[in-house]
Amino acid sequence: MGDFESSFLEETELNQGMSNDILDADHIHRYPAKMTPKIANYVLKNACNEFDKEPDKIQVFDPFCGSGTTLLVARSYGFSVSGVDILRVPVLIAKAKLTKLNNQNLKRLQTALDLDAEDIQTFNGLDSWENRDIWFKDEVYGYLMSLRDWINTYQNKYVYPALFTALSQVVWDVSAADSGVIVPTRSKRSPVAPDFSQEEILEKFKKRVEKILLAQKIFSNSKFPNPNVKLSTGDSKNNSSWPIDNFDLVITSPPYGDGINYRRAVSLQTRFFGLENEDDGEFIRKTIIGRASYHHDISEKTLPNKEKKSRWVTSIRSRSEKRLESILSYVQDIRLTFRELREKINPQGKAIFVIGHPEVSGIKVPLSRVLVNIAEEEEWQLAETPICDSIKNRVQTPIRRSSTNPISEEYILQFRCS
Ligand SMILES: C[S@@+](CC[C@H](N)C(=O)[O-])C[C@H]1O[C@@H](n2cnc3c(N)ncnc32)[C@H](O)[C@@H]1O
Repeated sequence: MGDFESSFLEETELNQGMSNDILDADHIHRYPAKMTPKIANYVLKNACNEFDKEPDKIQVFDPFCGSGTTLLVARSYGFSVSGVDILRVPVLIAKAKLTKLNNQNLKRLQTALDLDAEDIQTFNGLDSWENRDIWFKDEVYGYLMSLRDWINTYQNKYVYPALFTALSQVVWDVSAADSGVIVPTRSKRSPVAPDFSQEEILEKFKKRVEKILLAQKIFSNSKFPNPNVKLSTGDSKNNSSWPIDNFDLVITSPPYGDGINYRRAVSLQTRFFGLENEDDGEFIRKTIIGRASYHHDISEKTLPNKEKKSRWVTSIRSRSEKRLESILSYVQDIRLTFRELREKINPQGKAIFVIGHPEVSGIKVPLSRVLVNIAEEEEWQLAETPICDSIKNRVQTPIRRSSTNPISEEYILQFRCS
């Protein structure tokens, strides 16, 4: 990393004060590139001492909240939490994970455990979308649709995100996608859409519901009073779309460059639940960070001054102008995010970013250093020496489906406004 100084994180430091209940609650579903709960815990456990306020008065915000792992850990310290993500699926999952259900809603969730096979009848008119039959057998899809109709009867209730999360995971589980991949892909392991009976699908759904019921137990812990939880779909680059106007602490892991297509990762669920019309789809394609370049006037000017002559820039440019453009777009998006956060964070506030170094055209991009340099230009300053975590034991995706190498370490960057 050249001129970039960092210290290493010891495993023992990471394990301190990490409760297994939180890990259980985080495991109610899969989502690509979740924050590692231990890292969130490591940075958050001392955060209470940095503010002269009761924990529930400390507002934590995640501008890329994904399925809410960071916020779950923040909630375990009694902080009030809020977050945005550009995609609806992770926001609903985050709601399921972070919302304490009252007794009435817990009972509603339990009714799922009493469902019988005849409650989920096969459908005659199946929804159809491009390649649907590649992913699901007709009968399987019909049973899923019946369950969808059943959970939709609770659409306006607080229990809906929990039921959605359970069914959304089943949708993935009974599709032709391998389990354990980041983005559902068909492969030699899944040459045809698998067969499941009505009973098997119902059983899978009930198991997921049971996990969510178990996860609700963390809320009986006194550390989880019921602080404010505000989550919505929104764009990290436009603070008028955020559910909150000011905050004390930002903790997040943004996309690491253009490696993961998050939208595709939830495309089965998005289509199944009909969560995107054409306009939404178009908006998300243009707004999501880390995909094809959409800043028409993007140029190397967006790079922080200190990076303009970096070797990674020259090397990627010589291999692929297009890939350079795409990483420049990414850099511009992260710059805008820092700018928007700067406007809304309270004085004395802190922003913590966890970031890894992706490979672009076979070249490792030192994103941690790039972020520090962007942040400085956007009036943020490093508050602590960056910490490096080597994530060998924390790899989240057992099966790789990508031509690039997996991220081998992550950096924890802590900033204050300058
Ligand atoms: C690494 S994941 C976040 C993990 C999350 N912090 C956690 O605690 O598990 C990155 C997220 O950024 C979201 N994202 C991408 N572009 C975005 C944008 N413009 N605004 C908000 N979220 C965005 C993706 O949908 C994805 O969920």
